[in-house]
Amino acid sequence: MPSTLYSALPFTRKHPPMNPAYALADVSSVFSPSLVLYPELIRRNIARVVEMAGGPGRLRPHVKTHKTREIARLLLDAGVTKHKCATIAEAEMLASANAPDVLIAYPLVGPNLGRLVALIRKFPQTRFSVLIDHPDSTKALSDVVSAAGLTVGVVLDLDVGQHRTGIAVGAAALALYEGAAKLPGLRPEGFQLYDGHNHQESRAEREAAVRALLAPVLELRAEAERRGVPVPRLVCGGTPTFPVFAGLTDVPGVECSPGTFVLHDAGYGARYADLAGITPAAVLVTRVISRPTADRVTLDLGNKAVAADPLLEKRVKLLDFPEYKTVGHNEEHLIVETAGAGRYTPGDVVYALPGHVCPTVALHKEVLIAEGGKVVGRWAVASRDRVLTV
Ligand SMILES: Cc1ncc(COP(=O)(O)O)c(C=O)c1O
Repeated sequence: MPSTLYSALPFTRKHPPMNPAYALADVSSVFSPSLVLYPELIRRNIARVVEMAGGPGRLRPHVKTHKTREIARLLLDAGVTKHKCATIAEAEMLASANAPDVLIAYPLVGPNLGRLVALIRKFPQTRFSVLIDHPDSTKALSDVVSAAGLTVGVVLDLDVGQHRTGIAVGAAALALYEGAAKLPGLRPEGFQLYDGHNHQESRAEREAAVRALLAPVLELRAEAERRGVPVPRLVCGGTPTFPVFAGLTDVPGVECSPGTFVLHDAGYGARYADLAGITPAAVLVTRVISRPTADRVTLDLGNKAVAADPLLEKRVKLLDFPEYKTVGHNEEHLIVETAGAGRYTPGDVVYALPGHVCPTVALHKEVLIAEGGKVVGRWAVASRDRVLTV
């Protein structure tokens, strides 16, 4: 097999050597595929983000990446008191870990409104808030919460360019926020500006994009406050624009809400120079299960073990592996082509970074915990379940 074949293939990339911190001295009892988390690296990622934000008070990290009580506690230990989540189960997990302030950054509709009431009743020590972006769902929220004799914080979800949820910055947004302040059971608590569409590699371009989306938001905030409706917080961004929002120290009430940083992944990887110091802290341990042809290696890393939402060539990053091309991904199989296939035999262990760590974690009921090159325990991915108790 001519080795030049692979350098001519599209999507082939050379892979950097594995971070020695990932290596497990003895993998003989590690089932594959397993997801392994490294608390030392997680602690470092948290410390770096706290440092970049200028203190834990300017953070509201998103729990969806890790979904574990243990990482929620590591964040609380680092002084982070404000959290963001997307599901009622994540909110319950955070509240049960004694998180004092939880924003459910998701529009709640239908029976989830009743679950919100149950959550507020069950965890009176936690202050909950939820997103609003439409008059009908805001009215329904007010009706259900006030009928229960309760109050919940509301954060106006502004569509700052992603066009996924939210309301465009403008008169209708102002009317919705002002109107919500007058509805029973609702407490206006600020705006969310989530810009998941901003992933420009260049810091200057990301910064320009953030400044452009921020200007009209600040005008809207000033107008709301002129009309007597407070906007105490702006909940801003994910991991790519975190360094930019973190630098906005002149804007009061900015809370940065990155999620991925805590475990990081191959998708964000080393793409952003201004996120230096954030290291992938979740690694897949997989094994070669077959060598079906002279140039193919098949691993037990199917799409039930690593998330399949990135493009095929970006789904995983095999570490310390010869140049390869991913050619197939089934439920329990990952098939790669490589001129180096002859080096591998069934049973060989390969370490890999997920392309997208957040949905990858949600595929695992438990993760292994490694310290000092050894597996020292397991953590339950507690809020992977859709329902905990409420
Ligand atoms: C509303 C919201 N906030 C924050 C985040 C965190 O973003 P990231 O994964 O880039 O850290 C997400 C990610 O999906 C999100 O949807």
